[in-house]
Amino acid sequence: MSHTMEGMIPKVRKAVFPAAGLGTRFLPATKAQPKEMLPLVDKPLIQYGVEEVIHSGIQNIIIVTGRGKSAIEDHFDVSFELEHLLESRGQKDLLASVRGVSDMIDIAYVRQKEALGLGHAVLRAKDLVGPEPFAVVLSDDVIDAEIPCMRQLLDVYEFFGASVVALMEVPKDRISAYGVVDAEPVAHNGAKDRLYRICNMVEKPKAEDAPSNLAIIGRYVLTPEIFTSIEAVQPGSGGEIQLTDGLKHLLRNRPIYGYKFEGTRYDAGDKLGFLKATVEFALKRYDLGGPFREYLRGMKF
Ligand code: G1P
Repeated sequence: MSHTMEGMIPKVRKAVFPAAGLGTRFLPATKAQPKEMLPLVDKPLIQYGVEEVIHSGIQNIIIVTGRGKSAIEDHFDVSFELEHLLESRGQKDLLASVRGVSDMIDIAYVRQKEALGLGHAVLRAKDLVGPEPFAVVLSDDVIDAEIPCMRQLLDVYEFFGASVVALMEVPKDRISAYGVVDAEPVAHNGAKDRLYRICNMVEKPKAEDAPSNLAIIGRYVLTPEIFTSIEAVQPGSGGEIQLTDGLKHLLRNRPIYGYKFEGTRYDAGDKLGFLKATVEFALKRYDLGGPFREYLRGMKF
């Protein structure tokens, strides 16, 4: 399909947020609190992802939750007591920031009863997504970009009408933590260094077996055939149903593109990545950046 068939390519209206993982990389903070609720400066991780998709033009959010994740539902819900308190105190800015969260979007929730893998989590959203293309966001991957990363992927999707995954170059000693693609560059919009047509992919290969240094980052635009493909695959890496294996299956009869997005990605599900993101985001804040920079300058290492 190409842009000449524009109008025949269905619009992406829904975004799925898998959020049922156990957050073991962040224990003990995640023992009684979902990792998606860890705050970067003053917003929980998942809100960065939600705002990214809203700014990309998607309004329907589906969150795949599990046990112990009710804080996520409360966060996006209306809090009458809190709003009342802030109103009575005349704290207008805080009131607006609290209301903004619940006004943001339409959210549906579905449970993943057991953490059986990312592919399995996405499959739980099948009935809510229906027969239409959709986005997937892994909220651990926080991406700071001028054009939201999901918008960049949607631009590629809207041109080709095919699934698209976000890609990033990763050093060899880190590559085995990712889904890795074997891909050929494709000229697009006058550039030849961002878009790839994927030939193969593998979840968490050993460094010596990795087909390239191009890792999949947690942003996907998927066509609905992915559900049948996920249903067809067996448990893979870590004994889990992997989304990467589903995509590899889909590749048998559908093209998949990869896009090396513009922006900075933080692995906020990892302690060091989380600290880096916290510092960078705090430095960028109009109200905190100045005093925080001053504090950092005065630190003795
Ligand atoms: C998941 C995916 C993997 C991808 C990664 C990006 O892995 O399975 O393919 O590269 O997200 O963050 P996880 O980090 O959940 O182990």
